[in-house]
Amino acid sequence: MVDFSGYFKSYFDYLPILLIVISLYWTRIVGGPWVPSSMQVIHRMLDMAEVGPDDTVYDLGCGDGRVLVAAAKRYHARAVGIEIDPIRYLWCQILISVLGLRKQVQIIFGNLFNADLRKADIVVCYLMPDALSKLEKKLKTELQPGKRIVSNKFSFPTLEMVKKDGNAILYTITPNQSEINSQ
Ligand SMILES: C[S@@+](CC[C@H](N)C(=O)[O-])C[C@H]1O[C@@H](n2cnc3c(N)ncnc32)[C@H](O)[C@@H]1O
Repeated sequence: MVDFSGYFKSYFDYLPILLIVISLYWTRIVGGPWVPSSMQVIHRMLDMAEVGPDDTVYDLGCGDGRVLVAAAKRYHARAVGIEIDPIRYLWCQILISVLGLRKQVQIIFGNLFNADLRKADIVVCYLMPDALSKLEKKLKTELQPGKRIVSNKFSFPTLEMVKKDGNAILYTITPNQSEINSQ
């Protein structure tokens, strides 16, 4: 038997292992692993959603922050990213500071399913189908009719698709789908 007792003297010694496990495995279970969207798909999604300077774009599972940076720099929108992986959350914080985007971009550390999405005009996601099924109910209860949702690659089960261009899929919350007034 290999004796690791000499390597791990305090709980802090386990921290790198814990961070790697969260980054590689935990994210798969709670929404989807980190696979960055290509810049081409990001521009297609944000173009389709007609993002403008008065909009607030939410990226649910913001990864390395590329969607947020594109929304802020190319479309002059406000952007909010939610990320559960501590390493990528820290990366995003550093990135937006280095790029001078602190006033325009906010990063929230945590689970997207616990986030308040009511201020979003456009929601961007690149998550696994299981996560989209769960997210759909939340979007219907928190987004007003007319708000746009764009997904990379994977479809929502019952939201009405407006347009699909390659991997970019656009949805709008219709008055029929919105559950805000029916509560
Ligand atoms: C496929 S990547 C997409 C990254 C980025 N949105 C993009 O398009 O380039 C999915 C991201 O969602 C994060 N994630 C997965 N489940 C999550 C959850 N429940 N709450 C917050 N972030 C989550 C992962 O850590 C990962 O960074």
